[in-house]
Amino acid sequence: MASLTFHGHATFTVEAADGTRIVIDPFFDDNPAADIRRSEAGRVDYVLCTHGHTDHFADAIPLACETGATLVGSYEIAAFAESQGVAAHAMHIGGRHAFPFGSVKMTAAVHGGMVHGDETGQFTTSAAGLLVEVDGKRVHHAGDTGLTLDMQLLRGQVDVALLPIGDNFTMGPEDAARAVEFVEPAVVVPMHYDTWPVIEQDPERFRALVGGMARVEIMAPGETLAL
Ligand code: NI
Ligand code: MN
Repeated sequence: MASLTFHGHATFTVEAADGTRIVIDPFFDDNPAADIRRSEAGRVDYVLCTHGHTDHFADAIPLACETGATLVGSYEIAAFAESQGVAAHAMHIGGRHAFPFGSVKMTAAVHGGMVHGDETGQFTTSAAGLLVEVDGKRVHHAGDTGLTLDMQLLRGQVDVALLPIGDNFTMGPEDAARAVEFVEPAVVVPMHYDTWPVIEQDPERFRALVGGMARVEIMAPGETLAL
């Protein structure tokens, strides 16, 4: 059975039934909420990136280098990864691609485009969300985004929604609850909160706002959910 492990902030590992390991938005060594260091990530087959900000991308290039994982991200992020010697698969918003573990579709996110580690600025990208299908389960990592009506397009396509609730940089609890209303996932996992004081939130308040619309799984760093 596939599983989802939370590593704090917006970092997750999805493990397929066959043992394929996919890390989304790796932020370990400078992440105050992380349960492990990058060196403890173990075997990694794919590194998936929603966008290039430090708190999602800081460990992406080193992790791919150290594990030999293939990095999957926007055209610009993939180009930057290749400029750093990392094998990458480029995609862009609206596109889906089949991988041995299932598929990845890039979805729209409304957010900034800087790429951490790019001194030149030439790899600036559009931020995205990632709809990852593994063993028939569909996990949507929304990335960093504000609430958009476009989220309604995801209705019926998401089993587990990973949604930012931290406010300030992304949706806060109220808008994230509206996103649940739009997407109608079976399960929602709040993320991108409590890492720093500016994004402190009470996830129980988010749970109350979601009410009966979905099952809210409040995951502690290091916790694993069966998919
Ligand atoms: Ni960001
Ligand atoms: Mn962020």
